[in-house]
Amino acid sequence: MKDYIVHDGWKIIEDGFHPEHNKITESLMSLGNGRMGHRANFEEKYSGPTLPGNYVAGVYYPDKTRVGWWKNGYPEYFAKVLNAANWIGIDIRIGNTVLDLNQCKILDFRRELDMMNGLLSRTFTAELTDGKQINVTTQRFVSIAHSEIGAIRYTLEALNFSEKVVITPYIDFDVINEDANYDEKFWDEVNKSVSHGEGYVTAEVRKTFFQVCTGMKFKLMKNGEPFRFHADFEERQKFVSNIISLQMGKGSRLTIEKYGVNLSSEYCPKNKLNEIAAQHLNAAYKKGFDRLLQDHADLWHKKWETSDILIKGDVAAQQGIRFNIFQLQQTYTGEDERLNIGPKGFTGEKYGGSTYWDTEAYCIPFFLATAPRQVAQNLLSYRHKHLQKAIENGEKLGFKNGAALYPMVTMNGEECHNEWEITFEEVHRNGAIAFAIYDYIRYTGDTGYLLPKGFEVLLAISRFWSQRVNWSEDKQKYVMLGVTGPNEYENNVNNNFHTNRIAQWTLKYTLEVIDLLKKEHHKAFAQLKEKWNFDEEAETSRWRDIIEKIYFAYDPSRDIFLQQDGFLDKELIPAAELPANERPLNQNWSWDRILRSPYIKQADTLQSLYLFENEYDKATIQRHFDFYEPLTVHESSLSPCIHTILASAIGYPAKAYELYLRTSRLDLDDYNNDTEDGCHITSMGGTWIAFVQGFGGMRVKNGRLHFAPILPDKWEGYSFLINFRNTILKIEVNKQEVVFDNYSGNEMVISIYGKEFVLPSNGVCSLPLASANGIEMQSRTGFSQT
Ligand code: BGC
Repeated sequence: MKDYIVHDGWKIIEDGFHPEHNKITESLMSLGNGRMGHRANFEEKYSGPTLPGNYVAGVYYPDKTRVGWWKNGYPEYFAKVLNAANWIGIDIRIGNTVLDLNQCKILDFRRELDMMNGLLSRTFTAELTDGKQINVTTQRFVSIAHSEIGAIRYTLEALNFSEKVVITPYIDFDVINEDANYDEKFWDEVNKSVSHGEGYVTAEVRKTFFQVCTGMKFKLMKNGEPFRFHADFEERQKFVSNIISLQMGKGSRLTIEKYGVNLSSEYCPKNKLNEIAAQHLNAAYKKGFDRLLQDHADLWHKKWETSDILIKGDVAAQQGIRFNIFQLQQTYTGEDERLNIGPKGFTGEKYGGSTYWDTEAYCIPFFLATAPRQVAQNLLSYRHKHLQKAIENGEKLGFKNGAALYPMVTMNGEECHNEWEITFEEVHRNGAIAFAIYDYIRYTGDTGYLLPKGFEVLLAISRFWSQRVNWSEDKQKYVMLGVTGPNEYENNVNNNFHTNRIAQWTLKYTLEVIDLLKKEHHKAFAQLKEKWNFDEEAETSRWRDIIEKIYFAYDPSRDIFLQQDGFLDKELIPAAELPANERPLNQNWSWDRILRSPYIKQADTLQSLYLFENEYDKATIQRHFDFYEPLTVHESSLSPCIHTILASAIGYPAKAYELYLRTSRLDLDDYNNDTEDGCHITSMGGTWIAFVQGFGGMRVKNGRLHFAPILPDKWEGYSFLINFRNTILKIEVNKQEVVFDNYSGNEMVISIYGKEFVLPSNGVCSLPLASANGIEMQSRTGFSQT
């Protein structure tokens, strides 16, 4: 764990430079706007540890798979979101010395990310090797109002010298991916141009032929006044710059405002890229830094109006939740159904920037409750668009009759993960995709999504489960062999509880959907049956048999389901007894030792108990939690959130709080020692559900919202916002009461601690906070009990 980020409610602050953590800070303070993003690299040269990163959404390279032992069915390539052009670069030379914080004495330094306004800033005073002292202040953002545009304001002050200064703003497309399999470069230059105060490079991705035009346009100011300058130009392979030499007097200030554009061929015909990019850039330049920033900040304020979570009395927790919300919002804006949420978003290369089950399992609830319905629907449609490819993926592995196996990792619908135990075996991902359809309909009531998209995906996944199980004569049950559950510290196991359970659930839900469609959309359903050659009778009767007879490993003495066959053969030593210096296990133990151990990377059996909690009583959930939590090492970022929700529900508030801090500050405090590779964006959706479903106790049942709020001891109170079926609710909790503020013109029936109340339109109502031991609830002003 690290503890160098200053705690603050709205800002992420590095006070004093921590070069040893620079890559972590670069990840934490990354900027994005759904269409592009970059790490918080310095504008000027930096020769210390850094991971340069600029990313353009949807633009990827299929990097040829590299494995020691090829297995049939492996994907040919791993799709990588590419490191794209560095457009932020501004080199500074003072006399003969290049400004490089790795070579200077740093007198003061502060870097901060202002989450309310989406603004990254930095200020430092440095002494160069020749004793010259300078002060630099920078501000930077990528606009959520103009999604192709970013802007920088960079001011340099000569504190104790008069000297010739050379400023070199540039565009550099000659970049590499740190994770390239064969150390290749992925971009080829298409064209470039440079002129006074501007420059462009257009490059094309090898193999996929995406093109991106990146440009810059800048102006200079001296002591706040516009400054006319002479520039020399430099052009190299995939690189253009302006070189400006000028004299700075002691105490003078020089400001450069640099505007950047990134336009990809996903949004513009290739033959128009340069022209349209220049139009965007000229418009931004004309608008100017302050107005662009205002447009951008206004939109951020709007986002916060519908998604902020306020925590009183615990600034670390407050910073944590806002950081998670901020990163989610800047990674995915939801306008384009071709895009998705990579586990690292725009903060790093790891995981290839592709789509995982993480989106469905952890992120959709956040967007459902805080964004217009279309946003979550676009995430679902993304999978529907990939259905044919998922069916082909199934066929490649020997499945037939339209059975779909969605990829574990994908960019365009094709599988690109290449570890057999995950590619072929971590099939529970299919269940998460099915569950997200249910989750969306449960939340929005929009059963229209089933026709045809939802139904088609469910049918194809159900067909997969139906073929993936086999009948065991020995057990007289259906079994599922050779799988990897969410807990990737076990591979190739038989009868993983979560996988069997979610398969059984998918089949049940698909049957319910079929009943509904037959009743309400008979004709459309008949057409779909024909389209998909759906032999309803034969296929559904097998599904029913599987639902009834699927096998779950069970320990009668503990009365718990087992994570998989044979789990009890392990040495069940609690993780708390492991030496601290051996954690995280995945960075200290050999893989075979991990596989033989009982340690659980992330919620697995508990993932099912969370998803299907309605089917288990509290005591059952508690027994499972008591057994599995002590063995869980939470080495996936996706783990503590689920545990927080369960711990809250079963009355373990201290545990819930501990795990909540872990999920919400996972990156800020670098719990898993890997934030330097990028932030765990998808787990941030998990943080949100941990808060709202854990502490807020929010559930959706039978088309209604249910709440059972608890308040961690350390907090004075909290509030969060929910948009449910066109009603916006603010739920506020303090030590005495729970206050519901209905911002809309509809009255609404909600359930609080199990009792139903009518919440009037535009009304504010309060009830006493139920303590853990369950004070009887009474209705108060405005509420009427149903
Ligand atoms: C987790 C997976 C997850 C992936 C990407 C892995 O460490 O075990 O469940 O899909 O990271 O976030």
